Amino acid sequence: MILIKLGGSIITNKEKPLSPRKKIIKNIVKNLKKIDESIIIVHGGGSFVHYWSVKYNMHTKPMNYSVRGVSTVKNSMIELNKIILDLFLENKLNPYCLPPTDFMAGNDPIIKKVKEIQKIANAGLIPITFGDALWYGQKKTYILSGDRIMTYLSKILKPRLSIFVLNEDGLYSDLKSKKLIYEINKKNPIISENKMDVTGGMTRKVEEASKISKMGIDVFFVNGNKPERIVKAVKNRKFEGTLFRGKKNA
Ligand code: IPE
Repeated sequence: MILIKLGGSIITNKEKPLSPRKKIIKNIVKNLKKIDESIIIVHGGGSFVHYWSVKYNMHTKPMNYSVRGVSTVKNSMIELNKIILDLFLENKLNPYCLPPTDFMAGNDPIIKKVKEIQKIANAGLIPITFGDALWYGQKKTYILSGDRIMTYLSKILKPRLSIFVLNEDGLYSDLKSKKLIYEINKKNPIISENKMDVTGGMTRKVEEASKISKMGIDVFFVNGNKPERIVKAVKNRKFEGTLFRGKKNA
C-alpha cells in the first residue's frame, strides 16, 4: 500500500485565497491511475482553508476556538474535498470519502477504524481523507493537519511508501539556487517559513516525514507539477525529489 499526501500548496493556488488548481489535481489523478498498488490519499487545505484558520486564529493546539471558525473551516475543507472527489470520479478512479471524524477520537486515532481503511483500499476503493477542524472534547476544538494524519496512518498501517506531493521539487540545500537534496542525512535542511500556514508548512512536513522514516518507511517529497515523478517514485525508477530513507531506530 502507498500513502500519498496531496499538499495544499499543490492542490490550491497559494497566491489567491480559496482557489483550487483543478488542472493540476486532474494531472495528478491521471498519473495515480498508473499505480497498480492500493493507495490511500490524504489532502491538505492550502490557501483554500488556511485563509479561514488564520482569520479565526485557529491552531493545532486544542482550545476554545470560535465556533463560527470551526464551522467555516470544516465547510471549506468539505468543499475542497468534493472538488477532489469529483476529479477522481471523472477520471475513472473510485474514491471513498473518509473525513477524519471517521477514525479520530479527540486527537487520537482509533486503531480499529484506521485498520479498516486498509481493507477499503484493498477492495479497490481509494480512501481519501484530509486535514480538518476537529472536536477535541470539553468545548475545545483543534486543527488536525493532513501531515499529522500521514504519521498516524503510517504508524498503524505501515505503508510500503509514504509520499508528500508538493509544489516544489523537494527540499533544497540552498533556497536561492534551489539546489535539490536527493537524500536527507543528519544535516538539517533549510526550510522557508510560511506565516499564512497555521499547521506549520514545510517545517511540519519535514518533522512528520522524519518520524515516518524512523518507523522504517521510505518517505518521498515530490513535485506535483511533474506528477510522473510520483509514478517513478512508486515504481522505483530514476527518482527526482527528496528521499527520507526509512531507518528503524535512526
Ligand atoms: C489542512 O491540512 C488543515 C486545516 C487548516 C483545516 P494541512 O495542514 O495538511 O494542509 P496543507 O497541506 O499544509 O495546506
